[in-house]
Amino acid sequence: MFGETFEAAWQKRFGSEAGFSLDEIGSLLAHRSVRRFADQPIPDSMVQGLVAAAQSAATSSNLQSWSVVSVKDPTKRTALAEACGNQKQVQTAPLFFAFLADLHRLAEYAGEVPTGLDTIEMYTVAVIDAALAAERMVCAAEALGFGICYIGGLRNHPDTVKKLLRLPERVAPVFGLCIGVPAETAHAEIKPRLRQDQVWFEDVYGESLDPNEYDSRAGEFFGSQGMATDLPWSQKNASRTRDEGLSGREKLLEFLNKQGLAKR
Ligand SMILES: Cc1cc2nc3c(=O)[nH]c(=O)nc-3n(C[C@H](O)[C@H](O)[C@H](O)COP(=O)(O)O)c2cc1C
Repeated sequence: MFGETFEAAWQKRFGSEAGFSLDEIGSLLAHRSVRRFADQPIPDSMVQGLVAAAQSAATSSNLQSWSVVSVKDPTKRTALAEACGNQKQVQTAPLFFAFLADLHRLAEYAGEVPTGLDTIEMYTVAVIDAALAAERMVCAAEALGFGICYIGGLRNHPDTVKKLLRLPERVAPVFGLCIGVPAETAHAEIKPRLRQDQVWFEDVYGESLDPNEYDSRAGEFFGSQGMATDLPWSQKNASRTRDEGLSGREKLLEFLNKQGLAKR
């Protein structure tokens, strides 16, 4: 549905000419989150393909320490949408996946709880595995013409998610993922990203961090989308990442510890 060329996507992403072309990855540069979906079901074979793409991601030590729950039950979807901060797309997306960091299966299969499972390291491994798997699913979904939206709100109320999805010990929600055909009214645009010299350094960490160029480009973009804000992007980020901007996630460690995760 979206289909900009590499050059056009680069221009929107970075506000400058690419100066070269790599058509093979044009579709990756054209990603945007989609929050409104057409009422169009996705065939089971495609869903199976999406999960296969996720399972084909690299995984730390081949531990495969992630799982996914596809949530079809409309009542559960309503409850999850509410738990995720009343996010409508959780309810309306044709597909909704809850991605999980999963160290439960490893212990079950082994018939013992290895001593390292409660470390921050093993939790990190499981979160990375889940994220890599999800992003592969995203690449597959976008290649098939679907739109996607990650849902970090799945960590707002992890106890509720645990109850709804009956999560055992050593399993934690990482994020949700909505997938579907974008609605005609989706209004999803390529969102600008930081200039490459702000995120890509050579040999040593960069010294010239400067938010001004991106603040101005992001400000223009949000204005053009009818989402103008008083604060520049760099300052808005600060308020989003204060405790009160974390929507309950500032207490995530309590939940993880109760689940037997990230204790040390
Ligand atoms: C892990 C993760 C969690 C996210 N959580 C949400 C969410 O809860 N709700 C939402 O509308 N978008 C969510 N997003 C989408 C981001 O807001 C979006 O990716 C970002 O603003 C960049 O926009 P783009 O994806 O259109 O390029 C999430 C993205 C990621 C990667």
